[in-house]
Amino acid sequence: MIQHLQSKTTLYNGVEMPWVGLGVFKVEEGEELKEAVKAAIRFGYRSIDTAAIYGNESGVGEAIREALAENGLSREDLFVTSKVWNADLGYESTLAAYEASLAKLGLDYLDLYLIHWPVAGKYKEAWRALEKLYKESRVRAIGVSNFQVHHLEDLMAGAEWKPMVNQVEFHPKLTQKKLLHYTKEQGIQLEAWSPLMQGELIHDPVVQEIASRHGKSVAQVILRWDLQHGVVTIPKSTKEHRIAENGSLFDFELSDQEMERIDALNEDRRVGPDPDNFDF
Ligand SMILES: NC(=O)c1ccc[n+]([C@@H]2O[C@H](COP(=O)([O-])OP(=O)(O)OC[C@H]3O[C@@H](n4cnc5c(N)ncnc54)[C@H](OP(=O)(O)O)[C@@H]3O)[C@@H](O)[C@H]2O)c1
Repeated sequence: MIQHLQSKTTLYNGVEMPWVGLGVFKVEEGEELKEAVKAAIRFGYRSIDTAAIYGNESGVGEAIREALAENGLSREDLFVTSKVWNADLGYESTLAAYEASLAKLGLDYLDLYLIHWPVAGKYKEAWRALEKLYKESRVRAIGVSNFQVHHLEDLMAGAEWKPMVNQVEFHPKLTQKKLLHYTKEQGIQLEAWSPLMQGELIHDPVVQEIASRHGKSVAQVILRWDLQHGVVTIPKSTKEHRIAENGSLFDFELSDQEMERIDALNEDRRVGPDPDNFDF
């Protein structure tokens, strides 16, 4: 079971990935970014999610180095994820993008490297590059992001390795029931981005009522709902008290009925782009 902030899920290739990580989307390079990453690691987070397009890999790397030294940790204690951006999808260009991300982060391997978006006609070549990196032990796990069931089927039809992770928008207004079922069946770990719907869900009355019954915050109830669904979650905050709050999910449990009430909030509503209809 998921007992603490450092509990991990085992990906189908045997690599262990923390159930909870810190997201750093829209956090620019600078002190705020560094302090957030350092606060998270100090509090006990062991997973950080960035991407080339976030433009903050250098700052994340710097914060990681400082946090490791300050907390007596080693690189192997952390799980670092980055993603190849759409403009770099292709065999050689994806290999080069991986090296560029490593150089910015100041790391010699990533724990997880993802194809950020399923750009039609481009993701298969990029996947061959990820498979090469994986086979050469340059990266511990490879996966995708924003892939619907049909994208996964298309990718896997010609692949040597299935993605180990699919990171998608997932929250109580977008419960992704079919995709969750499919990925579980396939042994692909689902990971939730914008788990708090970028803050929009904080005033939801149903979740508020459940939260007050448990003496927890709305954010904590939603993140706990992710975990009880078997979904890895990576809430973003730059505030130390919220980083701590979002990592404190292990002293309560939602009942089946509470889980169902939250599931019933689904409206198939996205806060981010639709993977079947995007133009970037
Ligand atoms: N693969 C993809 O395409 C993709 C797309 C989007 C995001 N992501 C990843 O997923 C991560 C999380 O998603 P996200 O950043 O879009 O949104 P999110 O985690 O759903 O929400 C972040 C927002 O909620 C606020 N917040 C955080 N904790 C809170 C709490 N306990 N109470 C009240 N408000 C709280 C944050 O504000 P403060 O910072 O002010 O606390 C921020 O405005 C990203 O950082 C990124 O790593 C991936």
